[in-house]
Amino acid sequence: MAEMSHAVPERLQARIDSLVASAERPRPLDAEQREALRSRVKRLLEERDAVLIAHYYVDEQLQKLAEETGGHVSDSLDMADFGANHPASTLVIAGVRFMGETAKILSPEKRVLMPTLEAECSLDIGCPPEEFAHFCDQHPERTVVVYANTSAEVKARADWVVTSSNALAIVNHLEANGEKILWAPDRHLGRYIQRQTGADMLLWQGHCVVHDEFKAFELERLRAEHPGAEVLVHPESPEDVIAQADVVGSTRQLIEGARQSQADELIVATDYGIFYKMQQAVPGKRLIVAPTGGKSATCASCAHCPWMAMNGLENLAHCLETGAGEIHVDSGVREKALESLQRMLDFSRSQGLVTAGDA
Ligand code: 13P
Ligand code: SF4
Repeated sequence: MAEMSHAVPERLQARIDSLVASAERPRPLDAEQREALRSRVKRLLEERDAVLIAHYYVDEQLQKLAEETGGHVSDSLDMADFGANHPASTLVIAGVRFMGETAKILSPEKRVLMPTLEAECSLDIGCPPEEFAHFCDQHPERTVVVYANTSAEVKARADWVVTSSNALAIVNHLEANGEKILWAPDRHLGRYIQRQTGADMLLWQGHCVVHDEFKAFELERLRAEHPGAEVLVHPESPEDVIAQADVVGSTRQLIEGARQSQADELIVATDYGIFYKMQQAVPGKRLIVAPTGGKSATCASCAHCPWMAMNGLENLAHCLETGAGEIHVDSGVREKALESLQRMLDFSRSQGLVTAGDA
């Protein structure tokens, strides 16, 4: 097994901490304001020939609107696939910036809007393109595989893009071809894939500010209090948390795992925004958020992504009304990034790993 290799420098960690602290949540709305905004968004989606595509972690009001208006709620792989196949001339992506960029790379002829362009991802911030290019230059013999949670520039440098839905299948495929892998940026997902596949992988040491906070010791205690519960874990979580999982998978795969589970209680180690769709899938089960801190510990994200939480009804209506929050990707970067993204989508479609339309 290859040695771990590229630590995220302290200055990037400081930037991540400061962006987490300054991420602004939308102001609270009363029922009347909410209803008025919901109607306005519905009208604007029609007028602007737009479709709303939301990630499971955004506010449930936005997920509901996507469902009610013929849009889509899903994981990052399905969001990309759905947007690329939908006939609307404007895609509105409620999520974080890399999701909007992915949509634009796949559909350059469409206008891609986001409620806010300040919705970051700690994995993206922790993997700057120049430093990543330097790392790749040092290992020219390796196939470069990057997680979708990266900038367009980093994708442009990659041979393959993967998401947590298809990373196992793609790395298995590469390993079967005898390829050595350079992986970025999530260290926990990388370790998990490395253990599952036995592939030779050099890992960038990025982390997700939400999943990195799940705590193994406290999870063990919680499981002892709920002996019949099953544990669902997103693979961006630490190794000792994944080790306790009954199901490990992308957000969509965790919902499917919940559906198939025989247990009455489920402990879920991912952003609790997923509870809206997961509870719909399993109305009779009790969903429990996995612990993010012990007695003395504190959590910075507390099982909810600070950047996903920036998406709200007001900035959604504003972007549709004014065209604010439009995503642009440099055409040279786009063309290169398209190759690795398209490779991922073609592979995923051939393996039946996308579900387009199943909100
Ligand atoms: P999924 O691809 O599982 O939706 O994950 C995206 C993400 O950002 C998880 O933190
Ligand atoms: Fe990035 Fe983590 Fe937020 Fe997902 S939950 S967008 S990986 S910071």
